[in-house]
Amino acid sequence: MKRRVAILISGRGSNMVALIDAAKAADFPAEIVTVISNRADAPGLEKAAASGIPTVVIASKPFGRDRAGFEAVLQARLDEHKVELICLGGFMRLFTAEFVQRWSGKMLNIHPSLLPSFPGLDPHGQALKAGVKISGATVHFVIPETDAGPIVMQGAVGVADGDTAETLAQRILGVEHRIYPEALRLLAEGKVRLEGDICKVSDSTASGALISPAIK
Ligand code: GAR
Repeated sequence: MKRRVAILISGRGSNMVALIDAAKAADFPAEIVTVISNRADAPGLEKAAASGIPTVVIASKPFGRDRAGFEAVLQARLDEHKVELICLGGFMRLFTAEFVQRWSGKMLNIHPSLLPSFPGLDPHGQALKAGVKISGATVHFVIPETDAGPIVMQGAVGVADGDTAETLAQRILGVEHRIYPEALRLLAEGKVRLEGDICKVSDSTASGALISPAIK
């Protein structure tokens, strides 16, 4: 049985598209049963609908600081679709500790940096400012703290001297689209387990070194 997944978005939805495309494969262990946006104008909504995925808008703005009120409506939609796992794809709203606890070990997020470096806003600008030579993307379980939680998978890219936040974001996005579906696959196949704050992956092997700047 495929695991039933909801993707939560607030904007463009390119990670959502990567997940939807991966889940089209007959042997993918999860199916995307709904896409939920907290913004009616999220461009990702049309892309999801074009793929035949039922979409729901739960506008968060009217709830203001009433996070629990928003989450009650969200949880009702998740129940309606019998959702088992949640993937956040650029979902820009914080959850209460209660909601996070309810979905503990079942909710993934992706962030465009090698966490725990550069959480929060403008991770690409933060990486450039720090002068790191390698950055990347992280898929992690969601905990109450923003852009933190047990790490399931990371992908790295080199950072060039001439990079801008835009060029770096573009390079990292390519990695995001590769690792998010793979991390979901591992979770849906039951191959990840939590040992305290650490996520362990069955049969995991490490890939080779990425050295930046490249050694000629
Ligand atoms: C992605 O780069 C994702 O990693 C980032 O938002 C973008 C959403 O793009 N998420 C965060 O920064 C979370 N703190 P998308 O809508 O095209 O997937």
